Amino acid sequence: MAPAGSRMQEMKRTKIIDIFSPELIGKEVSVMGWVRTRRGNKHVQFVALNDGSTIKNIQIVFDLEKFSDDALRNITTGSSLHVTGRLVESMGKGQSVEVQADSFEVFGTADPEKYPLQKKGHTLEFLREIAHLRPRTNTFGAVLRVRSALAFAIHKFFNERGFFYLNTPLITASDCEGAGAMFQVTTLDLNNLPKTEDGKVDFSADFFGKSTALTVSGQLEGELGATALGAIYTFGPTFRAENSNTPRHLSEFWMIEPEMAFYDITDNMDLAEDFIKYCVNYALDNCMDDLEFLAQMYDPELINRLRHVVEEKFVRLTYTEGVRILEESGHKFEFPVYWGADLQSEHERFLVEEHFKRPVILTDYPKEIKAFYMKQNPDGKTVRAMDVLFPKIGEIIGGSEREADYDKLYTRIEELGIPMKDMWWYLDTRRFGSVPHSGFGLGFERLVLFVTGMTNIRDVIPFPRTPNNAEF
Ligand code: 4AD
Ligand code: MG
Repeated sequence: MAPAGSRMQEMKRTKIIDIFSPELIGKEVSVMGWVRTRRGNKHVQFVALNDGSTIKNIQIVFDLEKFSDDALRNITTGSSLHVTGRLVESMGKGQSVEVQADSFEVFGTADPEKYPLQKKGHTLEFLREIAHLRPRTNTFGAVLRVRSALAFAIHKFFNERGFFYLNTPLITASDCEGAGAMFQVTTLDLNNLPKTEDGKVDFSADFFGKSTALTVSGQLEGELGATALGAIYTFGPTFRAENSNTPRHLSEFWMIEPEMAFYDITDNMDLAEDFIKYCVNYALDNCMDDLEFLAQMYDPELINRLRHVVEEKFVRLTYTEGVRILEESGHKFEFPVYWGADLQSEHERFLVEEHFKRPVILTDYPKEIKAFYMKQNPDGKTVRAMDVLFPKIGEIIGGSEREADYDKLYTRIEELGIPMKDMWWYLDTRRFGSVPHSGFGLGFERLVLFVTGMTNIRDVIPFPRTPNNAEF
């Protein structure tokens, strides 16, 4: 009963993930965590304690001969506890071991009248409104552990292949990529903007002496790294100010962008395929408890789908062939499909889920719907783009071989009216020691979406940023 007994303070804490090891049975242990549930009768109370280290709870048994009802009154759902006691094999169903409490301390109470997670079974929509507390649910615990494991797998994958981790700037002065609308960054007084003679905002008075914004991609700077270090990858936040309220778009998301000198489009596709398979496999090898929980709760097919992706060779075909398949399918799409159209998620998913029944890498898109830097094909119409399309997700990776020829790149920049003053440093990669090179971008949350089987991208990032939503 002694709340802060000296013995309690001396004893080393065991994380719940480590408590299920057989050699601890019969030993005194000390555990800390948050109460998930409490139930019982006049003789004994059972508390399910979770410390976030695993989806599993440890059952704590309070014998009411040792503890009075009153002593236990603050042990309610959401409160935090430190318990010491003996670890014993459990008689009850559902757990292998339990702790018979000898002493405990409540770190912090959680008023049952007010704690929003008092009851189970909240909808994901409701949990988005309490994003500050939702990490304490089983679902978000599982998703966030898988997310963390995938981030580690990504660094491991590139590190094992000799890639260097390059940090590219988040604040940028050019919107060369054209990947999306940008968030402006300024310290100008918005209520009193300095103006030039012709009435425009005078950005020369701004913090950087020019107009700046948050980056939509680290690629262009990534190319500077790749043409020096050989092979790099970036892994950082990316910002897009489109007003797209879909289950697959965030205004702030994380992107992984490898960029490799001396890689052509085929090398690029091989790397992308190996990379995704490695990450999915890593989750299967290291996150099975969480994946099984998510499969059971939301998506019974999840684990099969993950295994399938790891085992299957991805289909590789050109945009032109893909469009022909879609046109000849007889399927009624919401958006029309024709050569030159930007493919919608419904088209991508049709190819992957209905037609081929495995991931597809689509290449050689019309140059009009792709970025200026992609390598032009001899046909004059298409570029060496590659998008990796996934079941349930649609586009998960976008990339290309890059145009390495200075004159062709220069001409394309002019054609598209991109200000040359923004491009001089980028063009220098093609002026000095230009090399064939390639790269791609993987949307991290789209990968987490795929691996966890969740259906809304807002549920795989701790604090989602979407139009009209930046509360937490
Ligand atoms: O296809 P995107 O726009 O490609 C680029 O930005 C290139 N610079 C990548 C490169 O070649 N280095 O974006 C790449 C990926 C998409 O395939 C998608 O997975 C993800 O980033 N993505 C988003 N994820 C969440 N929310 C958004 N608004 C996203 N926009 C793109
Ligand atoms: Mg894309």
